[in-house]
Amino acid sequence: AFDVRVASTGCTYTVPPGRTVVQVLADHGVDVPVSCEQGVCGTCLTRVLDGVPEHRDLYQTEEEQAANDQFTPCCSRAKSALLVLDL
Ligand code: FES
Repeated sequence: AFDVRVASTGCTYTVPPGRTVVQVLADHGVDVPVSCEQGVCGTCLTRVLDGVPEHRDLYQTEEEQAANDQFTPCCSRAKSALLVLDL
């Protein structure tokens, strides 16, 4: 599990194994637009202000993924204990 923090509210939520960041945020009324939910379309692309994502998308280039300043919360996870999201 890892935590995500919504920068605009400061609220932090835990993402357990088997659930996605998008699902956990939706539980708390934070809606991220999604389409494919498989890391292909880029609709859910969200800026990451702090922390290191574990990219599982096929949308970004390797270079974009390596920058670690955005990720696809429909399928990607975190390598760090916390991700701070620009939401
Ligand atoms: Fe398509 Fe996340 S919804 S990449």
